[in-house]
Amino acid sequence: MKSILETIGSCPIVELSHSLVPSGKKLYLKLEQFNPNHSIKDRTALGLVLAALKSGHLAPGGTVIESTSGNLGKSLAMIGAAMGLKVIVVVDPKVSSTAVNWYKAYGAQVDMVNTPDGQGGYQRARIERVQQLLHEHPGAYWPNQYDNPQNPAYHDEVTAKEFARLDYDVLVGCVSTGGHLSGIARGIKRDRPQVKVLACDVLGSAALGGAFSPYLLNGVGLAWRSANTHLDCFDYHSLIDDHHAISMCRILARESGLLLGGSAGLVAYGALQCLYGSSAKSVLAIMPDSGTNYLDTLYDDRWLEQKNIHLYGVEALRQDLQANEFKRSRSGRDLESVPSLSY
Ligand SMILES: Cc1ncc(COP(=O)(O)O)c(C=O)c1O
Repeated sequence: MKSILETIGSCPIVELSHSLVPSGKKLYLKLEQFNPNHSIKDRTALGLVLAALKSGHLAPGGTVIESTSGNLGKSLAMIGAAMGLKVIVVVDPKVSSTAVNWYKAYGAQVDMVNTPDGQGGYQRARIERVQQLLHEHPGAYWPNQYDNPQNPAYHDEVTAKEFARLDYDVLVGCVSTGGHLSGIARGIKRDRPQVKVLACDVLGSAALGGAFSPYLLNGVGLAWRSANTHLDCFDYHSLIDDHHAISMCRILARESGLLLGGSAGLVAYGALQCLYGSSAKSVLAIMPDSGTNYLDTLYDDRWLEQKNIHLYGVEALRQDLQANEFKRSRSGRDLESVPSLSY
């Protein structure tokens, strides 16, 4: 290989062997933490940068400016270092010091927004700062992961191919920008229209529609529905709370040796809901990142106590799954009777 960027992708699939998987059924986990920055965002960032270079929106040696306080910033910073691009990451005070150090380690410039926007959050204030910086850096490129159609397009054209090598009934993933799941779903369904797609989101998020209320998980969910969340690509949805998602992470770490991020715990629980609550025999679940990002939070008992998170054990989760919570998801619709998700 000639560049670290060539190591992006080709992430392994592991079959989960755990007593929570119903007998006779299969749960496969696609581990995106095997990307160089330990998340699926390496793929998204690469797709956005390559498309911009191809279209001429970004010149070789040019500047990339993005608002992010999570995984995308790490990926853009790495790509900038590998390709000789300048990267400016716009963050807010909620960003972790580890993420800031990660961006800086790759040589990215970190721009902190300290004043919240009118609604008390920082998301819109960060976008305003991006606009300012674009003005100050003529020719700079803003990937805009939420609305840029190149985000799902890359996952459709490239990532989805890796999901076509295995037989399964249902693909399960989660949404924030919606880019990876919409793109992979579209790519898979083109060749295998019989595969169903379950979109999971954290309870409180408005990424799939509905009203927003605060939640704890990072990476997954959004305060609005982004243009890259294509509901027509999804057949079912499930809204899962912080407690179930985090409990799943903790159980998989201790009992299966899988150190996963919170959104991966959420997706794993959604995949189990699907196996318990439908006739699906096999499910492939997309695990977006690694638990190494959350050792001081989701994997820290004191943090969980401060945040009033209740950890469920295996038997309690099994009972919830058997009670078929999935069929009583917030929409009130039954899994088997929802041909397509609509709000
Ligand atoms: C850990 C994690 N999970 C899930 C997602 C959601 O991915 P997408 O933005 O493609 O919907 C992200 C994206 O930032 C993420 O970092």
